[in-house]
Amino acid sequence: MKVDVLLGLQWGDEGKGKIVDVLTPSYNLIARFQGGPNAGHTLEFDGIKHVLHTIPSGIFRENTMNVIGNGVVIDPVIFKREIESIEKLGVETSKCLVISKKAHLILPTHRLLDAASEAAKGKEKIGSTLKGIGPTYMDKTGRNGLRVGDILSHDFMHKYTTLVNKHKQLLAFYDYSYHLEQLEFEWFESLALLKKIPQIDSDYYLNDALSEGKSILAEGAQGSLLDIDFGTYPFVTSSTTTCAGACTGLGIAPNKIGNVIGIFKAYCTRVGSGPFPTELNDQTGEDMRKVGNEFGSTTGRARRCGWLDLPALKYAIMVSGVTELVMMKADVLSQFESIKVCTAYKIGNDISTSFPYDYEAEGATPIYEELAGWNNDLTAIENEAAFPKALNDYIAFIEAAVKVPVSIVSVGPNRNQTIIRKK
Ligand code: GDP
Ligand code: IMO
Ligand code: MG
Repeated sequence: MKVDVLLGLQWGDEGKGKIVDVLTPSYNLIARFQGGPNAGHTLEFDGIKHVLHTIPSGIFRENTMNVIGNGVVIDPVIFKREIESIEKLGVETSKCLVISKKAHLILPTHRLLDAASEAAKGKEKIGSTLKGIGPTYMDKTGRNGLRVGDILSHDFMHKYTTLVNKHKQLLAFYDYSYHLEQLEFEWFESLALLKKIPQIDSDYYLNDALSEGKSILAEGAQGSLLDIDFGTYPFVTSSTTTCAGACTGLGIAPNKIGNVIGIFKAYCTRVGSGPFPTELNDQTGEDMRKVGNEFGSTTGRARRCGWLDLPALKYAIMVSGVTELVMMKADVLSQFESIKVCTAYKIGNDISTSFPYDYEAEGATPIYEELAGWNNDLTAIENEAAFPKALNDYIAFIEAAVKVPVSIVSVGPNRNQTIIRKK
């Protein structure tokens, strides 16, 4: 058996949570491989709307194990809240959720450092979700971090204090005022619940599952254009959001990767700072935000909206070896008479179809092609045969450009509003 990987191809919030939930019945295990509570994955079904941050999006389906991999970073306080709200809906999490001992812990001082760093950057800030993601991954690669497995070790308090003392020195450098006591109190209190979830050697666990013929779907967080190496650096997150992250974040060898399912919105959004060439700072952008309800699932911030960017999409497909595509939120474009798609950029006198090293410094401006809109409500459509011609044309246009088939089209936030296309 191989591991299929599902990941976002834009700047996050493509709808990964919804599609993982839709696909879960075809898999035995769902495994999150990177990111942490900066993610907000929304699931809607049976009148329930639920946002997950750290827990894999297979959690509401029966007979599925959910694995939090070594590449994930966990804030015990947010994790506790997540567990409690899931259990209220009747899920017994200790039976269907396991955590890698090697996943790193977000400390209260990581959150303070994130806030202090952003405040110091002023107008240049990344627009971080302030969940402590950057500082936690910095401590991981700096070889100072604390891991979930450390909670049970006899010298945990010593390790904790050593790291917090280092953080206090850094916070003094920032001249940032803070109150740690209450944050620490909550954090230590939350560890009790974290200890109740089985801690495992997730690398062995997943490889053994593969040997036993079990099927695994790896769930990504954020999006390819927020990847630490391939995203719009420095306006990125601190982990590998592309397919390689599933290998390092789970202990899966590259030759065990099967299908790579790439998710994109029929347009683009971005939350936080950083380049966004097709951004629409006009009524059209406003209309997309309103109809698409484009407000952050984690922070509530308004998402920036714009047209689909094909060079960026092709780049994300290339870097992850995407084998099939899922197009989300087609219903949101129903309001427009015509739809624009960026097919290339103009850079000086040149035309380029590559994703630039630095959009702004290179002065890349999008070149658009205009396609007919479908102007039809899609939200009650039940199968592909009912797609309006203009929607089929839009999909065919994208497929021809990126050379990867669109296998699923999403026409609303609910689990049921998902159309599987015939091969
Ligand atoms: P994720 O982070 O990739 O899981 O995506 P988010 O949950 O942050 O954001 C996607 C948002 O779009 C959520 O509010 C979903 O409920 C919603 N959504 C997902 N698919 C569709 C769709 O096809 N149409 C509409 N209108 N909303 C959708
Ligand atoms: P999901 O999994 C959208 C963005 C932040 C900021 C940058 C760095 O729901 O798609 P960080 O807190 O990671 O240091 O922030 O990345 N960002 C996201 N944007 N969806 C997400 O996750 C995101 N996670 C981080 O807005 O610009
Ligand atoms: Mg999200």
